[in-house]
Amino acid sequence: MKLNEILDKTLSEQSALFTNVKDLPSHENKQVAIRGWVYRSRGSNNLYFVVVKDGTGVIQCTLDKEQLGDATWKEIEPIYPESSVVALTGTVKKDERAPGGFEVKVNEFKMLFRGEPFPIGKDQSIEFLLDQRHLWVRSQRIADALKFKNSLMKACREFLDSKGFIEIQPPLFTNSACEGGSEVFEVKYFDTKAYLSQSGQLYSEAVIAGNPRVYVFAPSFRADPSRTPRHLTEFWQLEPEMAWFDFDMNLELQEQMVEYFCHYLAKHEADILKRFGRDPKELLAIKAPFKRMTYNEAVEILQKKGVKIKWGDGIGLDEEKILVAENKQPVFLINLPKEIRAFYMKINPKDPKTVLDGDLLAPEGIGEIIGGSERVADYDELIRRLKEQNLDPKDYTWFLELRKYGSVPHAGFGMGAERVCRWLLKLDSVRDAIPFPRNINRLAP
Ligand code: 4AD
Ligand code: MG
Repeated sequence: MKLNEILDKTLSEQSALFTNVKDLPSHENKQVAIRGWVYRSRGSNNLYFVVVKDGTGVIQCTLDKEQLGDATWKEIEPIYPESSVVALTGTVKKDERAPGGFEVKVNEFKMLFRGEPFPIGKDQSIEFLLDQRHLWVRSQRIADALKFKNSLMKACREFLDSKGFIEIQPPLFTNSACEGGSEVFEVKYFDTKAYLSQSGQLYSEAVIAGNPRVYVFAPSFRADPSRTPRHLTEFWQLEPEMAWFDFDMNLELQEQMVEYFCHYLAKHEADILKRFGRDPKELLAIKAPFKRMTYNEAVEILQKKGVKIKWGDGIGLDEEKILVAENKQPVFLINLPKEIRAFYMKINPKDPKTVLDGDLLAPEGIGEIIGGSERVADYDELIRRLKEQNLDPKDYTWFLELRKYGSVPHAGFGMGAERVCRWLLKLDSVRDAIPFPRNINRLAP
């Protein structure tokens, strides 16, 4: 069919007539129609190379003046990478020199939207790219990272589905902080105050009495002013919560899930992984079980390495890096002192100065990607834990009631999706795993 005839049809009819770039290799020596954004272009008097991207791939298209005729040839310029949108017909040819091994020899060419010169060039500063984020999200790099994150979540959902979980929706307006008072965003809520949710966990703990295995995948908000490569003020957290799960079962579920998504991504997103410099084989090598390291052991190791740390101190990223340095696999750091852990974590019966918590630390200097724990199921213990942390039990009335009516042992964890992408794609920062990142000085675009 002629290009003009295709373009005269409705968009719905057109979608069957244009071939996706990723499918071109199976049309070798055949005539195709494609459409998309100009990715790159260069030309001479008689020959023009236009690399077209359509969201499924990129393909080099060769335009020959003799073939196209003068009228169409004049139509080509000016042509602006990322701004200009084109449609063309041509023949798919194998060509070792073309990126991807194929090219399209163009018969007909039409500029659908010429646009203006794209404001983003090479070697721009990070701040400039963040200011232009609405345009930069279309870059191959960000587009890849977003697709990769989607596959990560697909894998997690597939894994949790197979274990009988259902997805639930907690509120994002809340009346109390889940993870600590100082990092909570206050918003005006009619004539009172509300807080943006830091975690869906407390709500999931209620829901498991009716659906014993649930998970939440939702935004979590943290009023954390620090600008680091691993903190966002708004990030996406996957939080499974399970009735009848103890501490060990919780860790086992986490390591199985991590193994599952690593293998899934190695299989389904090998091209993206390679573009980010990650050999998919490295993900296939991630295998449960992961090492468990107690806080007591960690302090000992750190002290032996000359780190100034005493029992009771927190473990920051610098310490996490040292603890995982010799591992290619993630490592669980477990049983931290109760004083530095959340009120909802159950006391470790074997060492009551510590709790039944575990952080999963990723290798390669990434640090914590998952935090989880067995929860306090006993009413009196929960009251004691709240008071120890100078929290007012009155602020947790409904949460305490869960321990009065049908309390069961339970556990859960939360995984930061952007942190996992940062690890697997070797991203400089979590910000490249979310389309419009938020931190203390960025609220736009
Ligand atoms: O360790 P956190 O704070 O744990 C919780 O919120 C628990 N309620 C989870 C649960 O048990 N259901 O956060 C969990 C994970 C961290 O391990 C990290 O991967 C990620 O969320 N995370 C962040 N990611 C990006 N930016 C931030 N500011 C983050 N804070 C935590
Ligand atoms: Mg944590």
